[in-house]
Amino acid sequence: MYEPRVLSGMRPTGALHLGHYHGVLKNWAKLQAEYPCLFFVADWHALTTNYDDPGSIEQSTWDMVVDWLAAGIDPAQATLFIQSQVPEHAELHLLLSMITPIGWLERVPTYKDQQEKLSNKDLSTYGFLGYPLLQSADILIYRANMVPVGEDQVPHVEFTREVARRFNHLYGREPGFEDKAKAAVKKMGSKKARLFNELRTRFLEQGDAEALGSARVLLEETQNLPRGDRERLFGWLEGSGKKILVEPDALLTESARLPGLDGQKMSKSYGNDIALREDAESVAKKIRTMPTDPARVKRTDPGNPDVCPVWQLHLVYSDESRKDWVRKGCTSAGIGCLDCKQPVIEAVLAEQAPMRERAQTYLDDPTLVKNIIADGCEKARRLATETMREVREAMGLAGS
Ligand code: TRP
Ligand code: SF4
Repeated sequence: MYEPRVLSGMRPTGALHLGHYHGVLKNWAKLQAEYPCLFFVADWHALTTNYDDPGSIEQSTWDMVVDWLAAGIDPAQATLFIQSQVPEHAELHLLLSMITPIGWLERVPTYKDQQEKLSNKDLSTYGFLGYPLLQSADILIYRANMVPVGEDQVPHVEFTREVARRFNHLYGREPGFEDKAKAAVKKMGSKKARLFNELRTRFLEQGDAEALGSARVLLEETQNLPRGDRERLFGWLEGSGKKILVEPDALLTESARLPGLDGQKMSKSYGNDIALREDAESVAKKIRTMPTDPARVKRTDPGNPDVCPVWQLHLVYSDESRKDWVRKGCTSAGIGCLDCKQPVIEAVLAEQAPMRERAQTYLDDPTLVKNIIADGCEKARRLATETMREVREAMGLAGS
């Protein structure tokens, strides 16, 4: 609807691993070349579950930013910032909390799931219940329409859409809305205005969805309308109020999933991960000692790649001819497991080499990282302030 904008965040959980690289960061790096992107460290979200360990959050924040930069997230293309340095997120969270029914939050699937999973912690807190609403504030404050996330986060984006809809419904009806909308149509120029009104009537009176689509395109193509007028017309078109907050869509990441050393999902807490910038020796050792087909006990026993976690890595790192070599060699006992693992070790090391190199620049001069984040926070804050001005005004808090 408005200018395209991508936003995503990550909780600072310590050194990232290759699963994050293949599952998330490669996708971010692709998106940054296509759209304006905002990527941020969700340190407040980390506090909702780790409120008893604030020191580790700070360290993890900076480690994670270096990992992002190492993975090719480019501050010249994307805006990188830290959530807690843009306090407007908290203000929007508070204001949205006024209109968010508690039942909506209790029904978000991650709420009970996480409480059960992290049963060693007391998560019956106000902050943890509000986790998805804080995430909504993160997204809505930038009017981001694309939110790249994993499957588990889709309910949070859905929830955000509902919050935005409720907000627009409650506060999009400004005094004199009809008159302001009609005045805005006139600003489109007489030809476009006539067409727009026709399409709107066709949608409102006959439910013609195609007419609605055409009218939206017409609005998108009208460049010179002030933002407030665009918001009015997108709402007026559908018979609703001003669309102050933008309903986002989840962008499901389709990139390859990299399993861990034991074939399970790669995760630091399972102890089956390879860190993004892990040193070469440790990488080689971890892969050399990876479990293989448990039925292949002796070198002369044929194996079955389908039950072997090493094969999973070949699926990500090897081309057809090498996969062929593995399949044939394994099932005929023509190659040993160490032979099979060697090209995987080399491929992982080759992937990590440029990352390690990029990271070194930032480790040698940490002020580079601080400056990147300071710039990003400033940029993010400018955008956030603009939205908050409208939100405050709509809620009777303009202060003038
Ligand atoms: N909840 C997300 C996660 O755990 C992190 C996050 C916080 C986020 N705010 C966000 C992701 C806004 C996307 C958009 O992965
Ligand atoms: Fe696994 Fe390769 Fe050994 Fe076969 S040869 S069991 S695929 S490590």
